[in-house]
Amino acid sequence: MTSATPFPSADGLWTGLRLAPGAAPGAALDADTEAAIAVTEGTIRWVGARSALPARFEGLPLHDGGGALVTPGLVDCHTHLVYGGQRANEFAMRLAGATYEEVAKAGGGIVSSVRATREADEDALFAQAAPRLEQLLADGVCAIEIKSGYGLALEHEQKQLRVARRLGEAYGVTVRTTFLGAHALPPEYAGRSGDYIDLVCSQMLPALAAEGLVDAVDVFCERIAFSLAETEQVFKAAKALGLPVKLHAEQLSDMGGAALAARYGALSCDHIEHLSAEGIEAMRQSGTVAVLLPGAYYTLRDTQLPPIEALRTAGVPMAVSTDHNPGTSPALSLLLMMNMACTLFRLTVPEALAGVTVHAARALGLQDTHGTIAEDMPANFVLWNVRDAAELAYWFGQRPVRTVVRQGRIAVGATR
Ligand code: NIG
Ligand code: FE
Repeated sequence: MTSATPFPSADGLWTGLRLAPGAAPGAALDADTEAAIAVTEGTIRWVGARSALPARFEGLPLHDGGGALVTPGLVDCHTHLVYGGQRANEFAMRLAGATYEEVAKAGGGIVSSVRATREADEDALFAQAAPRLEQLLADGVCAIEIKSGYGLALEHEQKQLRVARRLGEAYGVTVRTTFLGAHALPPEYAGRSGDYIDLVCSQMLPALAAEGLVDAVDVFCERIAFSLAETEQVFKAAKALGLPVKLHAEQLSDMGGAALAARYGALSCDHIEHLSAEGIEAMRQSGTVAVLLPGAYYTLRDTQLPPIEALRTAGVPMAVSTDHNPGTSPALSLLLMMNMACTLFRLTVPEALAGVTVHAARALGLQDTHGTIAEDMPANFVLWNVRDAAELAYWFGQRPVRTVVRQGRIAVGATR
């Protein structure tokens, strides 16, 4: 595929819109006031009440929104989208009673996806990931994070991250790449965790960063993965290269990872079912986003809820993501994740919507270009065939998208 996008330009005046709560912080309108968005050269120039449109925008070609509800383009801030194969067999094992940790210890889990990923070449990985990306995009996703972590050797991590970049170019979607070399211990390093982390820090990360393949660095800090000390070693290597960090933190146990990540100014701490009060306070102080992953919680039949009320009280921003991966969350719909975040975690609808827009953008450091509808931002917004924002979380399994404007282009639907 080439980088040329086949989609028509979204330039013009978008009318007949109703703003979802929180969609455009600079233009808080009630949902019954007709809103308009002016776009030129792929950039939002103005958003507000149709009746208050500055005269200079009146002549633009019209796109009639037909009364649609409009939200910012959705942001999926935590995915492992590029991998080989699938792990439906583990789904069956867990149904028969095995836990995630037991499956991992029996040679399944992440390492089984590593085998399949190493066997696939770049084109094969692209071909497998592309239809998954298309599913997410059809739900209104305009920016996505894609992690490595199923290669666990330089050439294979490189392959994953190159595919992530190619996907962004081929689909005209913002992709943030995250190096997750410290996802699991590769079998050839069994019993030599320290040696592997040395390799991650001194060879893999610098080489991948030099190739421009790393926007952030992540670690799976857990008793079945890497220790707190190993996590810190990776964070130090990231900081030495000027790269932001994030963490798979306190998913299965409280390792103190969130507080450590916060000390390194982490963009986000993700999963956090076992997050402590100290972890919350550290995240509050560092402005770290809490990324909630209800798909993994659901798939693992977890019963330990993330500390939502305490995060809310502390004012820690909460994002919601698919965590798409072949082991714990084969989900490909952010709307479904909104539903689960509300139903399982008791988020309110505005919280869930902020979780897949403004806070998700912040979790990727993209708050200046994504997650809200605002002047001077690239045009990324979604028109929905719903009356009420609650319907976005309510109709699970449905896709009420009318139009997706992604990176200044009409990527789904047409309105002329
Ligand atoms: O985010 N927690 C670690 N990593 C993934 C699962 C990866 C896998 O099982 O393949 C997650 O849930
Ligand atoms: Fe994950």
